Amino acid sequence: MNDFIIINEKNPMTENGYRNGVSKNGHSNGSIKVDKVNGANGNGAIELERPIVIASPRPAAAPKEQRAQLSGVGVVGLGYWGPNWVRNLHQSQAAKRIVACDLDQKRRTHVSELYSDLETTSRFEDLLNDDEIEGIVVATPVGTHYAMAKRALEAGKSVLVEKPLATSSEEASDLVKTAREKKLTLMVGHTFEYSAPVLKMHDIIASGEIGDVFYISSVRANLGLFQRDVNVTWDLATHDISIILNLMGGREPEAVSCQGESHYGHGVEDVAMLTLRFERNVIAFIHVSWLDPDKIRRTTVVGSRKMLVYDDTAPQEKIRIYDKGVTAQKYYDTFGEFQFSYRYGDIQIPRIEEKEPLFCECEHFVKCIKNGETPNTDGVNGARVVNVLEAANYSLRRGGLMVPLGAALR
Ligand SMILES: NC(=O)c1ccc[n+]([C@@H]2O[C@H](COP(=O)([O-])OP(=O)(O)OC[C@H]3O[C@@H](n4cnc5c(N)ncnc54)[C@H](O)[C@@H]3O)[C@@H](O)[C@H]2O)c1
Repeated sequence: MNDFIIINEKNPMTENGYRNGVSKNGHSNGSIKVDKVNGANGNGAIELERPIVIASPRPAAAPKEQRAQLSGVGVVGLGYWGPNWVRNLHQSQAAKRIVACDLDQKRRTHVSELYSDLETTSRFEDLLNDDEIEGIVVATPVGTHYAMAKRALEAGKSVLVEKPLATSSEEASDLVKTAREKKLTLMVGHTFEYSAPVLKMHDIIASGEIGDVFYISSVRANLGLFQRDVNVTWDLATHDISIILNLMGGREPEAVSCQGESHYGHGVEDVAMLTLRFERNVIAFIHVSWLDPDKIRRTTVVGSRKMLVYDDTAPQEKIRIYDKGVTAQKYYDTFGEFQFSYRYGDIQIPRIEEKEPLFCECEHFVKCIKNGETPNTDGVNGARVVNVLEAANYSLRRGGLMVPLGAALR
């Protein structure tokens, strides 16, 4: 059963994010009434092109499945992000052997000191030539993704490429084609598509509870980490695009525009604003920045019936469903009679069982290799995000021109 906590607007939150009378574990201490009600229902669902799993009562915990395990797995790139892969592969016992590769001796030493049974190498070829290695995680800089993934697939290895899949739609579709020809798993590291709040939002929207989606607004801003080889759209907006396409049930935008600016030289934009136009007047805005005083990770979805806010920086209660809306009077004779009525209803906080998204992604990668299943974030999913990024960057070079998706961008 999906429980929600409902907060009545008359009893606002305290500054520390908790309501008076509600303890941090969500239980009422009696001074203010907090209702626990059953999960969402809804009608008037938006039409989605892909079959969607509707939020339903969770089944009782099943007996633990035997974990899939590979004979060997490789990780290339042990900079900022790669060690998180090593940790999750290790913790999930994904493979009998984990071989980690980086050109930099210091990075190899750093990870091998953490895990005594980890093998390391400076040569990518060692991963490619190792018959026991079934899958390789590519966590090197974005500009190297295509070449490394291509070599790995050609060597007969399944591949997980960190986001974004590649730096052009041409490269992305070539990787999809190569993986198909070789009958290998190609997955992209769209981590947020494995996070519980995003999956929850997807289910809420698909259930029709918030009505038709009017617009989505997403902000991903903080101070740093500046990248050298790609701008802030390829670095940060990749996450928002993958989240938005997921929430839209895989529906792609019809056109994209982007404006941005570089303030620290090399022409690498550190701040950008993207607009994605979908059919039926749905619009999405993405603001990304490496130059912001605050860390903001916030996605708002405004629907015809309700509104949804996802704040990934919140320690808990990351999603809120606002029963707020506007109704325009259908018939009126004079402008004086024309008016809107505003609805200020309850706020629901769905209960979410959080698990580290990368751990889920890691288990999914291993399972897909073992069972030959298509990953949720497969090469096609990765290529869709690259198509949007490519169109956005074409627009960026042209002062924010609205670019139809799928147009030849040469
Ligand atoms: N999914 C997420 O949430 C998430 C978060 C951060 C970064 N990333 C992605 O992870 C990737 C790596 O990002 P990062 O911030 O860790 O970069 P980084 O620059 O910190 O690390 C890259 C590492 O790759 C190594 N490397 C480069 N070329 C190599 C080669 N040919 N052979 C072996 N090693 C090589 C470098 O020595 C370096 O240690 C990027 O694609 C980035 O977009 C994903």
